[in-house]
Amino acid sequence: MRLFVAVNFTDPTRARLAALRDELRQKAACGRFSASENLHLTLVFLGECDAEQVTSAKAAMDAVNFSGPFTVTVDRIGRFRRNRGDIWWAGVRESKPLSNLYQDLTDKLAAAGFEIEKRKYSPHITLAREVVTNEPPGEIEPFNETVSAIELMKSEHIRGKLTYTVI
Ligand code: 2AM
Repeated sequence: MRLFVAVNFTDPTRARLAALRDELRQKAACGRFSASENLHLTLVFLGECDAEQVTSAKAAMDAVNFSGPFTVTVDRIGRFRRNRGDIWWAGVRESKPLSNLYQDLTDKLAAAGFEIEKRKYSPHITLAREVVTNEPPGEIEPFNETVSAIELMKSEHIRGKLTYTVI
């Protein structure tokens, strides 16, 4: 199965993110827009894993030094340029608790044999893919979310719909 480790959001935060997605949808000529229930912050993408790797990923996550809930701030909209249409995302402000969590988690996953991307972690919440629009990313009113857990997620297509499930 295809796995990743994510921070999932409370309903109010999901609703705010969905509103940003909807604004973008109105302005865009086309795009594939994230379903509200799929809006999340990825910490690490693990890719295809077997049952044994699921067990070791869970053990690595359990070993993370999580020193209690902390706040993250969603403070901007940005895009990654792509030939077939851009990826638009909501950006999460850099913060010590988040980067410490990322570092500790990736250290433990690497020690368990997982290959971790070398490029710098750029915390973002994907709002849409393959977006074509002339609209430049705009300013947003920053808002906060409390991170109190990380979750191991499975990504699959069920009857053609991209579905994420907490495992
Ligand atoms: P994205 O939103 O920037 O595409 C499930 O696919 C989650 O893992 C998504 O949040 C996705 O980030 C992230 N991810 C990171 N690297 C990935 C990769 N190489 N392939 C697919 N998803 C990846």
